[in-house]
Amino acid sequence: MNIADILSKFNITERVLECFPTGNGHINSTFLAKTDTKKSYILQKINSNVFKNVDQLMNNIFLVTGYLRSNGFETLEIIKTKDDKNYFQDENDYYRLFVYVDNTICCEGVTNLEQVFNAGKAFGLLHKSLKGFDASKLDEVIPNFHNTKKRYNDLLDAIKNDCSNRVKDSKEEIDNLMKYEKDYSVVVNALANKEISLAVTHNDPKINNVLFDKTSGEIRAVIDLDTVMPGSYLYDFGDALRSLFTGEYEDSKDLSKIGVDYQIFKMYTLGYLSEMKDVLNDKEISLLAFSSFLLTVESAIRFLTDYLNGDVYFKTDYSEHNLIRARTQIKLANEIYETSLN
Ligand SMILES: Nc1ncnc2c1ncn2[C@@H]1O[C@H](COP(=O)(O)OP(=O)(O)O)[C@@H](O)[C@H]1O
Ligand SMILES: [Mg+2]
Repeated sequence: MNIADILSKFNITERVLECFPTGNGHINSTFLAKTDTKKSYILQKINSNVFKNVDQLMNNIFLVTGYLRSNGFETLEIIKTKDDKNYFQDENDYYRLFVYVDNTICCEGVTNLEQVFNAGKAFGLLHKSLKGFDASKLDEVIPNFHNTKKRYNDLLDAIKNDCSNRVKDSKEEIDNLMKYEKDYSVVVNALANKEISLAVTHNDPKINNVLFDKTSGEIRAVIDLDTVMPGSYLYDFGDALRSLFTGEYEDSKDLSKIGVDYQIFKMYTLGYLSEMKDVLNDKEISLLAFSSFLLTVESAIRFLTDYLNGDVYFKTDYSEHNLIRARTQIKLANEIYETSLN
């Protein structure tokens, strides 16, 4: 099906003049559709290899964006299909249409600390504005996404099965991850015991998912809501720091490029707490630094598990790719643990 036919399934009155690829997303295929009016649209082909239940995913986005908009926050706006669905499905693929959030910029990387503060503030604001939304209404589109204990058990299974005969090359990494075993249950248990809140979490808290106003530089909207799910505030906080500390070096063999940057830690935390200080409870506050360790070590567990399973989940370019990624994350996790948590 061609793009014009796909667009014709959605409920828009404007005439689309051109539609071309845009953005630097790694998951979905994104197109900007310009029309004969000032309004433009974002058409996305949803990656259904990653997301198995598009119906649930789109319903989550529909609920969260509806809540945000009714509380006065700018957010993604779903354009329904002519038969009133949140997405259109042809023989092979799923498509959705959003209003293009006009006059915004999207930072692909961090060049200064003000951006780090603003990223923290943006995700803090998202959490705060969804505080009154009942997170249990959302489906878990990727079940147990940040259940670190379960992720660790998956690693133990992969070690036991050793289906690619790679355990022999990863002894050091396995030992390193086994050493933290007791830490893997901390957040999962705190959630189960209701010591910390069940909250709406974004689960991909990268700065390129924040749109800033082109003119004023102010935060406009957090986008890429595919993985909004019930979880803990700590998941987004920890994962955002993990991704900021890792930067572009997730695949680097030079481990000296990866490490804790205290300025980044401080600025992200200040930005986040500028919105969230009255929302978080004492337990959550006491676990903020720990969460950056936990989400980093969890990412190491996932890469190593995939390496041992024969690279079935993450895309790899060479046979040791997942092992290299696991090493960068282990290096970072060790450094956070030794410098910030002892
Ligand atoms: N509604 C929107 N308004 C403006 N830009 C958008 C919008 N949706 C997506 N984009 C742009 O497209 C990029 C990729 O979209 P995103 O939803 O983050 O996909 P992915 O899941 O592939 O990362 C974003 O980083 C942003 O630059
Ligand atoms: Mg994105």
